[in-house]
Amino acid sequence: MALQLGDIAPDFEAETTEGTIRFHDWFGQSWGVLFSHPKDYTPVCTTELGYTAKLKPEFEKRGVKVIGLSVDALSDHYGWSKDIEETQGHTVNFPMIADADRKVASLYGMIHPNASSTLTVRSVFIIDPQKKIRLTLTYPASTGRNFEEILRVIDSLQLTDRQKLATPVNWRPGDDAIIVPALNDEEAERLFPQGFKKLKPYLRLVKPSK
Ligand code: BEZ
Repeated sequence: MALQLGDIAPDFEAETTEGTIRFHDWFGQSWGVLFSHPKDYTPVCTTELGYTAKLKPEFEKRGVKVIGLSVDALSDHYGWSKDIEETQGHTVNFPMIADADRKVASLYGMIHPNASSTLTVRSVFIIDPQKKIRLTLTYPASTGRNFEEILRVIDSLQLTDRQKLATPVNWRPGDDAIIVPALNDEEAERLFPQGFKKLKPYLRLVKPSK
């Protein structure tokens, strides 16, 4: 069965460009993003990896460790990294799993045989410090992902873990959030002394505190 939200992310040992890791130990108490690439030396992946390297300070600010995966050998990962640096202007600054035997790709359901029997799809798993899967995304090989969206989801997850809030359509940090329906108005007034807008009994907007 496919991995689902709330499942514990399967643990594994793997070779990476930064040495052998045991997945859960490597994340430690951080949040994590595990994302797959169909193949080394491919154009869309090259742009994604360069951009993710550029975003490293943004992931670090949020306490997130990032790790990539491709079903190729370590030697290919190293050679490809040079091309990424040359063409994207950013050095790959996070580990890349060398999953030539597709052990991890199979564990995480990253191979969708009716799309391709050899390449992985573009999967993303956001994993929280308790190792629970909090988001899954699956993109086709031909569409590069939007890594700003991945940061936005992390911001939403971290906010909604801290406060009894949800985030509305196209929410960005700093925007109003939604008070969860499980809270009645009295509880909401206590938890959000800054006040809230009640558009409907079930639709109450509040400016989150920091
Ligand atoms: C790419 O990363 O550019 C790519 C990989 C597989 C199929 C299509 C594009």
